[in-house]
Amino acid sequence: MKLTVDRTACQGHGRCFAVAPEVFQLDDDGYIAVHDGTEVREEDVAAARRGVRACPERAFQLKD
Ligand code: F3S
Repeated sequence: MKLTVDRTACQGHGRCFAVAPEVFQLDDDGYIAVHDGTEVREEDVAAARRGVRACPERAFQLKD
């Protein structure tokens, strides 16, 4: 699956990283550092779903 990331939507809440640090790395300022279109490994899909749901700004989508 691919993770679409709208970095302009990120407000630095950090909830994605809090629930799934293996998928949602942050930059030094606490904003999402994951690139749009990043491939999610099969073993990380459940964690990615948690992170997608956790973001109050809806910065992410998971797509096949
Ligand atoms: Fe940003 Fe949402 Fe994560 S606002 S730091 S992408 S929880």
